Amino acid sequence: MKLGTKSLLWGAHAFFLHPLQVGWGWQRLWGIPWDARLWIAFLFHDVGYFKRDQMDGEGSDAHVILGAEIVRSICGPAYADECYRHSREWCRRRGQPVSRLCLADKMAFVLTPWWIYLPMTRLTGELDEYVSRSRENHGSSGYTEEERALIFDGGQRKWLQGLQRYTLRWVEAHMDEVVPGRTDESAIAWGTPASRWRITIMSVPIAK
Ligand SMILES: [Fe+2]
Ligand SMILES: [Fe+2]
Repeated sequence: MKLGTKSLLWGAHAFFLHPLQVGWGWQRLWGIPWDARLWIAFLFHDVGYFKRDQMDGEGSDAHVILGAEIVRSICGPAYADECYRHSREWCRRRGQPVSRLCLADKMAFVLTPWWIYLPMTRLTGELDEYVSRSRENHGSSGYTEEERALIFDGGQRKWLQGLQRYTLRWVEAHMDEVVPGRTDESAIAWGTPASRWRITIMSVPIAK
């Protein structure tokens, strides 16, 4: 079974847990997510990991497409846009700001206790990839000395602690840059079949 499928079934993106964790992350940042369409986004935003060989790396940001298009069909373009821009890499490549879902997704990681995160990602085999990516990226990631020591020199629990601290700092630093889901051309997946889909030119943010 592919790594992405395992992640969705019982790993870091488990269908029965990850949406709840994202909801928890959202609540910590912006209050209780009462809008049912947000929960649909929480449920589907990562389904594009299905049958993927790896979680991060070249082309991995395309995992946003499937979930975003499912969400578009149920909730409309603004919520699709939330899903597209939940990936930092997707946004970086396209010069787009991250969405609220992106920060809630990162908070989900920050809030997950080690006794849930480590066994699940060990079981799927994701953990090795996450550890090596976090160490490969250290040049561009801007870890503090303390985070660097935890991420590079500790065991798995220390590594998780270091990466969660770094991620929390990243969330706090980007709170002001978040742009809520939009209904203009930004909600289109450029260069994919989805770009031929419906285009609306209204621009109505869903921020409350
Ligand atoms: Fe994702
Ligand atoms: Fe996610």
